[in-house]
Amino acid sequence: MKAERLAERISVEVHLEEDHRAALARDVRLGLTMEPKELPPKYFYDERGSRLFEQITELEEYYPTRTERAILRDRGEEILAAAGDPSTLVELGSGSASKTRHLLDAMRRRECLGAYVPVDISPEITLETAESLVGEYEGLGVHCVVCDFERDLERIPPAPDGGLIAFLGGTIGNFYPDARREFLGRIAASLGERDMLLLGTDLIKERRRLEAAYDDSLGVTAEFNKNVLRVLNAQLGADFDPAAFEHVARYDDRAARMDIRLRSLCDQRVTLRGIDLEVTFDAAEEMRTEISCKFTRHRLEQVYASAGLRMCGWFPDPARDYALSLARRR
Ligand code: TRP
Repeated sequence: MKAERLAERISVEVHLEEDHRAALARDVRLGLTMEPKELPPKYFYDERGSRLFEQITELEEYYPTRTERAILRDRGEEILAAAGDPSTLVELGSGSASKTRHLLDAMRRRECLGAYVPVDISPEITLETAESLVGEYEGLGVHCVVCDFERDLERIPPAPDGGLIAFLGGTIGNFYPDARREFLGRIAASLGERDMLLLGTDLIKERRRLEAAYDDSLGVTAEFNKNVLRVLNAQLGADFDPAAFEHVARYDDRAARMDIRLRSLCDQRVTLRGIDLEVTFDAAEEMRTEISCKFTRHRLEQVYASAGLRMCGWFPDPARDYALSLARRR
């Protein structure tokens, strides 16, 4: 196929008004002046952070990515049948769309494949993904929406005749309950009669396996966690010494979530020149960098209900480590 023919099947819209650095500065100032301190997880993913996260997904201990992939591969057609064979797949946080290909394959086998709408903050990755997909899937139209999907959800165009909105990777687990209810509620409000949400969630299991998934023996996760400090050094002129912090990953079984932190190894003072801020850390003081909520089917049904959604499909892997589920508007 000729290049211009492929390009005809790609369209792009970009909504990136707010300057990324201004948002970073505001979030970091807020987080570091809070008691206890906390950093927002979306800043893990600079180039090095994204590479480290790729490595995490390949670790023996980190089962979610490969388990979700296996469900999409083995049960993709079943999921699409339950979703009413949508012709449009919208994906929030699409990235390189590597797991998504299993869904697109299943759509092709069921002959409903029409359009793919990747929604992602990175224009480079989204375009690159679009270009390879139009080459791989004959006739597929790809409409890229470059935005922060949490902020710009309402701007994603509706699918003309039934769409599936995929939010994979267990990322919903990284929201606090209030923000989660609000976000799922906005998704519910944006769903048409025939649209459905496909959500990936990690499931509650033994503490030992959960904690190992977030504290691997090679130390990749520890490096990933500390990378957020390097991001602040580079973007905000901070002088964090990553070696002066240690990675902490604990499962909080009351809240059913992983609690991921950085613990200061000594009394220390850090200066963030770019935002004119100085903060001190006591020895052993902990700063949260991420939560990752774990679910059961029952708890997820409650989460859906509180956001105006109803579960209408449940697709765990055979070992029940992870599940994809379908939901529609109530
Ligand atoms: N969304 C991923 C998860 O909750 C992100 C993640 C994996 C993560 N390992 C981490 C975040 C370690 C911070 C630290 O599983």
